[in-house]
Amino acid sequence: MTKPKKIFVTRNIPEIAFKMLKDKGYEVELGKYKVPPTNKDLIKFFKARVKKGTQYDAILTLLTDQVDGALLDSVGSQLQIVSNYAVGYNNINLGDAKKRGVEVTNTPGAFSDCIAEHTVAMIFALTTRLVEADRYVRAGKYKGWDPMIFIGSDLCGKTVGILGAGHIGERVAKHLGKGFDMPVLYYDVKRNETLEKEYGAIFCETPEEIYKKADIISLHVPLLPSTHHMINEKTLKMMKSTAILINTARGPVVDEVALVDALKKGTIAGAGIDVYEFEPKLAKGLAKLDNVVLTPHIASARTSARDEMAVLAAQNIIDVFEGRVPKGKVEIK
Ligand code: DGY
Repeated sequence: MTKPKKIFVTRNIPEIAFKMLKDKGYEVELGKYKVPPTNKDLIKFFKARVKKGTQYDAILTLLTDQVDGALLDSVGSQLQIVSNYAVGYNNINLGDAKKRGVEVTNTPGAFSDCIAEHTVAMIFALTTRLVEADRYVRAGKYKGWDPMIFIGSDLCGKTVGILGAGHIGERVAKHLGKGFDMPVLYYDVKRNETLEKEYGAIFCETPEEIYKKADIISLHVPLLPSTHHMINEKTLKMMKSTAILINTARGPVVDEVALVDALKKGTIAGAGIDVYEFEPKLAKGLAKLDNVVLTPHIASARTSARDEMAVLAAQNIIDVFEGRVPKGKVEIK
């Protein structure tokens, strides 16, 4: 009798994933980590398991798990797939996986609408000064109606600039372009026809054009060497002093120290940040600023999205085990 496939899931995710895998007769083990384990913690764990004779055929990782060659080696030669429970896969060394013949998958398209909605929520929170006003009321500072307090800014007539025109950028363009009649500019290495034809978005040849012209700049690029610190002191200085920057993509796309400086000096007006350069740590001074709205990497935190991600992550494993090309296959060049 052939041994059942073994899968290690680093941290808890929706039950549906466990059910799908167990229904196939696989053995599924859940890590006991309450906070994200380090790369070293995981290597230590896998080595101990191998010593006791346990090898995994698949590991289901989260975006906080740093997967490199040493980690892949520690799991053992049986490993077929790293199924990442995320759209982004910058936590995985793709070259190392390719060298070892290990498939890498992600969960594309699972929550584009959630992230787009979170982006819009952050924009509104900043233009209406919602979070600041909430803090003010809770602190007992509200002493009666005052026509001069918490003056926000209008969205109408403002231009939104989208950097990265994948599924998420496309949804942001739809919500803001169609819903709020905002002119939409976008930049990507590839042109996006849907964005142009359906949402009237205008393609910019360079990101600089966006920095200079947009009132709201929203980041939807993956983290790559070419996008690391794409937003830095120089690019922040190109933006309007009234500009708002939203980052729901990946923290290191923004030089956070430069951002704090720009927000303090009024180089730009505000920022909505869901992801941090050194997550979960924040750059010094960021949390003290009133012109920022900060959330703990929750742009995709909805039951529907989390469940869809779980289904995709589990299905990717099933597909690999059953010899099919998984929907979330990451093409490694
Ligand atoms: C992802 O999956 O890449 C997102 O950052 C989760 O919110």
